[in-house]
Amino acid sequence: MKKHQVLIDPSKCTGCGLCVKTCVAHNIELENKKAKTLLKNCLMCGQCTAVCPGKAVTISGYDAEEIKEKIETSLKPQEVLDVIRFRRSIRQFKEKNIPYEVINQILEAGRYTHTAKNMQDVSFVVLDKEKDKIEQLAVRLFKKYKPFADIFSPMARHYTIDSHFFFFKAPIVIVILSKNKTNGILAAQNMEYVAEANGLGVLFSGYFTMAANTSFKIKKALKIPKGKHAAMTLVLGYPDVRFLRTVQREPLDVKFL
Ligand SMILES: Cc1cc2nc3c(=O)[nH]c(=O)nc-3n(C[C@H](O)[C@H](O)[C@H](O)COP(=O)(O)O)c2cc1C
Repeated sequence: MKKHQVLIDPSKCTGCGLCVKTCVAHNIELENKKAKTLLKNCLMCGQCTAVCPGKAVTISGYDAEEIKEKIETSLKPQEVLDVIRFRRSIRQFKEKNIPYEVINQILEAGRYTHTAKNMQDVSFVVLDKEKDKIEQLAVRLFKKYKPFADIFSPMARHYTIDSHFFFFKAPIVIVILSKNKTNGILAAQNMEYVAEANGLGVLFSGYFTMAANTSFKIKKALKIPKGKHAAMTLVLGYPDVRFLRTVQREPLDVKFL
């Protein structure tokens, strides 16, 4: 028995065919004006459930209570673009804790982010009490490799690896784990937006992510399961710096073919 199955309630199905049109896997057809699944490869993406006007299609094995009816929201394009233009990496944080509800909302943004083939392979490790201890494992690792990095990287020579090199005294760090790296990084970006909407500042820590994927000790401390990797690390806290304007960037590099 599969973990999830697409179920169609014929008493609710009006035969409108919207699920048939929407199904990317061609897994639904109409028979005698009723939808029926062909039990072929199904991504369990749920588009058939979301498009059905009569709520005739469901997927078993999920919490049905969490389905929400769509609310028409109108995001203004310029405001969305401004969110992207004004966001900055934050490396100075206030000594202020983040409420659990806010952390939970950020995690929900990650959970709801789309994944390739609907893999849903993304999970999260929130570093709270163990944060400093785990940061020190990464500090030790980077200190060990710094002399070699200094030879090859002029940028590495500019860095001093102090004891807050990775997390900048932020109150919370979320390590995003995934099988497919792109899936984890997409989740990270959406999480950042929800964090910013809550007044938080965020830093993507590529360095800690690298340390987590290199060191067996850090992997063990983070309890990274087999087959998964750290895709990105979000360093989160209330910003103790206020940026007043956008920064300059290279001109748009684009070709229309
Ligand atoms: C994938 C990724 C990894 C990054 N890793 C680090 C990091 O480990 N440490 C750090 O201080 N900044 C890190 N940054 C921040 C970049 O240095 C920063 O985004 C860039 O300098 C532009 O500044 P801005 O984010 O304020 O626009 C990272 C950014 C990205 C997108």
